[in-house]
Amino acid sequence: MVGNTVIPTTLTSLAELDKVSDKTLIRSLAYVDGKWVSGASQQMFAVLDPATQQEIGRLPNMDAADTRAAIEAATTAFESWRKTTAKERSLLLQKWYQLIIENREDLARIMTLEGGKAFGEITYGASFIEFFAEEAKRAYGDVIPSPLRNSRMLVTKQPVGVVGIITPYNFPNAMITRKAGAALAAGCTVVVRPAHETPFSALALCELAERAGIPKGVINMVTAESTTPEVGLELTTNAAVRKVSFTGSTAVGKLLMGQASGTMKKVSMELGGNAPFIVFEDADLDVAAEQLLACKFRNSGQTCVCANRIYVHESVYDAFVAKFTKLVSDRLKIGHGLSADVNFGPLITECGLAKVEAQLARALQSGGEVVLGGHRVEALAPGRFGPLCPIFSFSSEDEVVRRANSVEVGLAGYFFSRDVGRIFRVADELQVGMVGVNTGIISTEVAPFGGVKESGVGREGSRYGLDEYLNIKYINLAF
Ligand code: SIN
Repeated sequence: MVGNTVIPTTLTSLAELDKVSDKTLIRSLAYVDGKWVSGASQQMFAVLDPATQQEIGRLPNMDAADTRAAIEAATTAFESWRKTTAKERSLLLQKWYQLIIENREDLARIMTLEGGKAFGEITYGASFIEFFAEEAKRAYGDVIPSPLRNSRMLVTKQPVGVVGIITPYNFPNAMITRKAGAALAAGCTVVVRPAHETPFSALALCELAERAGIPKGVINMVTAESTTPEVGLELTTNAAVRKVSFTGSTAVGKLLMGQASGTMKKVSMELGGNAPFIVFEDADLDVAAEQLLACKFRNSGQTCVCANRIYVHESVYDAFVAKFTKLVSDRLKIGHGLSADVNFGPLITECGLAKVEAQLARALQSGGEVVLGGHRVEALAPGRFGPLCPIFSFSSEDEVVRRANSVEVGLAGYFFSRDVGRIFRVADELQVGMVGVNTGIISTEVAPFGGVKESGVGREGSRYGLDEYLNIKYINLAF
């Protein structure tokens, strides 16, 4: 819905899929216990290219019984996987990482055809496998000075067990690797339910994991249509699953967490954000405008850490809006992710577009004014391009911090200032799990990703992300 260069699409999705050089990366079955399987019901669902709405393939629509079979496979595999050494797991993860990198062109093509985006995510996703391959060897314990004579108090870390992983469509590769990389490094086995919009990218990861030598049953993948709740219900209620890791909306996160409480599973919930992006009067406006472009339009605006509410100090508001509008209109080239020169792909779902349209209607009703775009990109059927970038003005630091914190969620927040005192003050005051100061990009495998308030619990990536898949065991040894 942005107003700039539109590159018409003449591509045929299936012809583009046919250009994948290693066709064995395109799997049309689910992956359970090291086998490619169809669901018990034999029903299939279609996966569409969001830029053309053309079907690119079909996959099994699996149910609770299929999910139980995957959990059983993961439970059996856990018995031997948990006993492997950290170094053995590390070497397998390194091999998996190398294979992802070697196949990145094909993986990117598959992802673009089901997820509408360009190539950056494969390297980002692979970085989690590489990081956790290294981190597997650092799940250190502790020795506590005992208050008793002739005693040693030890703390060790053990894998939590079978993990249920439920991932969204916006990062078809990285949301799986960020969770599964940590889980496998810790010695856990996993059952993944990938998003129904983007399952081919997920299954290609299984194919590469198998080639890397990751044993059968360690990674299992259950595919299912749309909102088929049975798979998620089984993953969150089956007693053999000891942890659930979910990325998605706060509403679904609450539901899953409630279901998981029946068997007291450990949970990681990486949920929605509503990120403030604040430009103070002392900011470098060129840097702030560049960073807003990167932050707002990353992944076509479909990340939970994209800037949602842009607050610009009233004294620099007009100058900032002019700079930013020029950048958006000069830089973003809209079209099919596989067309030459395109750097801005479609929204993956129709519902995503409906949300943008509703937000726009609300903004206009409240007196907002469209500076650029504001309509469907008619030249590109189905014209599914977003996002909305609302820019408000503010007059004082206290006011903007209050407005920034006035929501129930708290994932990421960004602000731009050159005043050192203000930088520490505002970074402390923002009620979020992650803060970008003078930058709009915060995601990396080495830093803890996660939120506060209703944005969820737990952290992903970094050494903190490994802890999410480990239980602490205390051993009191008297001698
Ligand atoms: C997400 O949107 O859930 C993840 C975004 C990121 O990794 O930057």
